Amino acid sequence: MQVPENFLWGGAIAAHQAEGAYNTDGKGLSVADVMTAAGNFDERRITNGVKTGEFYPNHEGIDFYHQFPEDIKLFAEMGFKCFRTSIAWSRIFPNGDEEEPNEAGLKFYDRLFDECHKYHIEPVVTLSHFEMPYHLVTEYGGFRSRKVLDCFVHFAQAVITRYQHKVKYWLTFNEINNQTNYDRAFTLFTNSGVQIHEGENAEAVMYQAAHYEVVASAKVVKFAHELNSNLLIGAMVAFSPVYPATDKPDDLLKAQRAMQSRFWFSDVQVEGSYPAWLRKYQAAKQFNLDITDADLAVLKQGQVDYLGFSYYMSFATAARPGEDEFYSYNEATDLVENKYVPKSDWGWQVDPKGLRYALNWMNDRYHLPLFVVENGIGAIDKLTVSHQVHDDYRIKYLRDHIKQMELAINDDGIDVMGYTPWSAIDIVSASTGQLSKRYGFIYVDRDDQGNGSLKRYRKDSFYWYQKVISTRGEKL
Ligand code: BG6
Repeated sequence: MQVPENFLWGGAIAAHQAEGAYNTDGKGLSVADVMTAAGNFDERRITNGVKTGEFYPNHEGIDFYHQFPEDIKLFAEMGFKCFRTSIAWSRIFPNGDEEEPNEAGLKFYDRLFDECHKYHIEPVVTLSHFEMPYHLVTEYGGFRSRKVLDCFVHFAQAVITRYQHKVKYWLTFNEINNQTNYDRAFTLFTNSGVQIHEGENAEAVMYQAAHYEVVASAKVVKFAHELNSNLLIGAMVAFSPVYPATDKPDDLLKAQRAMQSRFWFSDVQVEGSYPAWLRKYQAAKQFNLDITDADLAVLKQGQVDYLGFSYYMSFATAARPGEDEFYSYNEATDLVENKYVPKSDWGWQVDPKGLRYALNWMNDRYHLPLFVVENGIGAIDKLTVSHQVHDDYRIKYLRDHIKQMELAINDDGIDVMGYTPWSAIDIVSASTGQLSKRYGFIYVDRDDQGNGSLKRYRKDSFYWYQKVISTRGEKL
């Protein structure tokens, strides 16, 4: 099976996980710069600013800031048609609330995008990928403040204006729906720069922050459409479908509410309005949110052009005894194991068919082009003495998922714009800060403590993916 000729094969990374150079050329601290490293099953600590004696893996990343010309050359060798990365907001506005952008930061992305075009690689750019300026957290509490909505729009307008002739494909907020899991400090902090105070209702705070984000997204979409009709602006969600654990009607209703809770973010960004159930739920829970009529009007004016999503795993849920009438979903406590799918070493449930399900589900619901902007498996790789990496497990994971995507395209008739696996090259893991949780086609010599030459080596999956691209997905 093949995909259409204009299909955007590529790979993805995010600025904070790769660039390093955390305080170079005027860059300010971002939320990623105050997170330490963790192990497979514990959480990264968020420190109060940068503390001496702590190790912050994102500070150096894989030094993509300096080594990107060699890396892009390797991407071109694989045959990439596109490359997804993000713009580190704090390179452009170091504190986040300045009027004028930092020219040195802007110049860096000029050079990066020019380098991509040199090889006819189309950049796909995320505006906010877990890297908001840290000053916006300490000064305003992140997206709990309407002020930060304005700061984000100001940033987005600056970079979209600057790069409109170099970047056609944009995404607003990476995995905006991670914060459905509002009880996890990592998700609220990375998505929204929000930290919960004692006694606060985290769910209410999440709904407020996410509201400002969907309004900000709509404003950015409207701005971009008016600026340049060539630009395509997408939303981006983490698509982990939530299956019912059994065929009990209560489990079905629970799973349905779980899906509604995870995907109201894209409902709003695609439809331009809130789903009715959510407004009723927010009112019943007395969240007392700042959602104005003017905001609701803005949402209608900024509907996205396509939907980007990550797909790593599927979830399952079961109703609890004594559910309330809302089947209220708390992701921290309501997920159950799915015994029909295996797990990665980090406990992620590997389910390739879930990708076909995802594409069908979103196509039925949104009727928009879909873009698989992340898919991959974190694994321990071993570099041999002759500098090879035999990552057949990664090839298997990607092959199984691409097969399902191709069925969705060819048999189900779904419009899929492209596929950018996570990650183009090994980078720092977002959730654990490890380098040893590797996703890339290219091995980077660096360990979890920051030691290593930073040299790059092609893995077996590099050559495999090269063939996949050159045969338009036929040779898997
Ligand atoms: C997604 C993020 O959650 O998954 C990426 O958009 C992240 O930033 C990727 O790196 C894989 O997750 P992790 O935590 O294993 O790096």
